[in-house]
Amino acid sequence: MVTGGSGTFGRHLVPLLEKSGHDVRVLSRRQGAGTHVGDLATGVGLGPALAGADVVVHAASDTHRLGRTDERQTANLLAASHDVGHLLYLSIVGIDEIGFGYYRRKLACERLIEAGPAPWTILRATQFHELLAGLFTPLDRLPFAPLPLDFRCQPVAAAEVAEHVAGLVAGPPAGHTADFGGPEVSTFGELARLWRVRRGRGDRLVNLPIPGAVARAFRQGRNTCPDHADGRQTFEAFTQASAA
Ligand SMILES: NC(=O)c1ccc[n+]([C@@H]2O[C@H](COP(=O)([O-])OP(=O)(O)OC[C@H]3O[C@@H](n4cnc5c(N)ncnc54)[C@H](OP(=O)(O)O)[C@@H]3O)[C@@H](O)[C@H]2O)c1
Repeated sequence: MVTGGSGTFGRHLVPLLEKSGHDVRVLSRRQGAGTHVGDLATGVGLGPALAGADVVVHAASDTHRLGRTDERQTANLLAASHDVGHLLYLSIVGIDEIGFGYYRRKLACERLIEAGPAPWTILRATQFHELLAGLFTPLDRLPFAPLPLDFRCQPVAAAEVAEHVAGLVAGPPAGHTADFGGPEVSTFGELARLWRVRRGRGDRLVNLPIPGAVARAFRQGRNTCPDHADGRQTFEAFTQASAA
């Protein structure tokens, strides 16, 4: 059973699992977006979705509200997961070193899973190419892009994280597994320039200075894992492919 199977990451994972012969269920709040309708935040619909499930991939998150309901979602999932043999949680690199609200909530979810009833695997990945595309696209309208140009990032293709997760699903619960990052660590400035030039928006960028400890952690690249540059597709290649 895949939570978040209708999301950016999950849409890549589900067909891979089906191709490997798994009988895959997808929980979604929206009729028709998955195989089972349910809401992790309330617990409605979880029983039928989980009945008889051997493995759960937990990739749902209240991303649009910076994880506001994520702890409740995870607690509800765990309360219904007593018979699950393997729960795999998709998390984010560096969340224990960056005091960003969304990351604090992801860390709290990790803690719930570690203490929960189901044997678990936690994989932390770096930011998806798709996330940066979502950040840069609205700036396409502007003659210049105001961004914290010195933030570091190691973007990775969600499709490649999905391939890796499909492999982990086939194995036993592994606890905390090695981080999974994109092929290159870059600055926001470098990535935004690539994006804008490729989309014919010119290369004008303006640094948006952001004070505080969270911004400092992003400048220091605490959200990166250069020792695990596992992804193959660069952000440049992703940008080319999405502009084609
Ligand atoms: N984006 C990144 O750069 C990145 C990097 C590393 C790790 N991650 C992690 O990877 C996971 C997936 O991220 P994503 O970018 O694929 O997210 P996304 O595209 O925003 O998708 C979120 C998913 O969560 C589901 N969801 C949200 N609230 C729900 C609820 N109350 N009940 C049931 N389902 C709910 C949504 O399903 P419906 O709307 O269909 O109900 C949707 O499938 C997240 O945990 C995220 O923290 C993301």
